[in-house]
Amino acid sequence: MKVVAINGSARKDGNTQTMIGEAAKALRKAGIEVESISLRDYDVRPCNACELCYTKSWHCPIKDDVMELLTKMRAADGLLMASPVYGADVTAQMKAFFDRSVIAYIDQDFRNKVGGAITVGAGFHGGQELALLQILSFYAFHGVIVASPKGGLFGAMGTASDRGDIKKDKEALKNARELGTRMAELLKMVNK
Ligand SMILES: Cc1cc2nc3c(=O)[nH]c(=O)nc-3n(C[C@H](O)[C@H](O)[C@H](O)COP(=O)(O)O)c2cc1C
Repeated sequence: MKVVAINGSARKDGNTQTMIGEAAKALRKAGIEVESISLRDYDVRPCNACELCYTKSWHCPIKDDVMELLTKMRAADGLLMASPVYGADVTAQMKAFFDRSVIAYIDQDFRNKVGGAITVGAGFHGGQELALLQILSFYAFHGVIVASPKGGLFGAMGTASDRGDIKKDKEALKNARELGTRMAELLKMVNK
């Protein structure tokens, strides 16, 4: 089984990536492959509202990397969407990607995949919950089954500013690992 992790950060190897790494550790320990993707390495343009994806299956006239990313996600069993908090929300890069994912919504290509959500913000209550809700809404839209860390949390949220600061947020790193563990548990149930 495989999980595709998508990081919406503009920063290379930042705090969100560290959180993904912790979740990935738990997933790999359970025998699940993880492919980690950073949106900063891909060309993701905003939707132009042509609505051609509604008339022709799996089609978008914008020539960028979105199809490649959605194809990777369609082939995966699980999704791990992660974003730093920008303006109390996910990053513009991640939001643009969410809008373009309508291509996969038409035929519900992500239905019954298992999804985990990660957010990191500099402030304590700096908008992590709101950004997380955007990811959970994306999952609801696509029929993805939401995994949550132990303790009834909605996802793994961290507080960190400069690159590497997240290593001090031990609770966040633990929640990220527990998110990975729960994703693995659900993946095994769904794919039995
Ligand atoms: C444009 C921009 C907007 C931001 N807005 C917020 C915010 O609203 N709330 C918050 O807590 N942190 C905010 N931050 C801080 C980042 O979320 C924080 O530095 C985070 O650790 C970055 O994660 P990364 O290292 O994975 O990129 C913002 C950072 C940038 C660059």
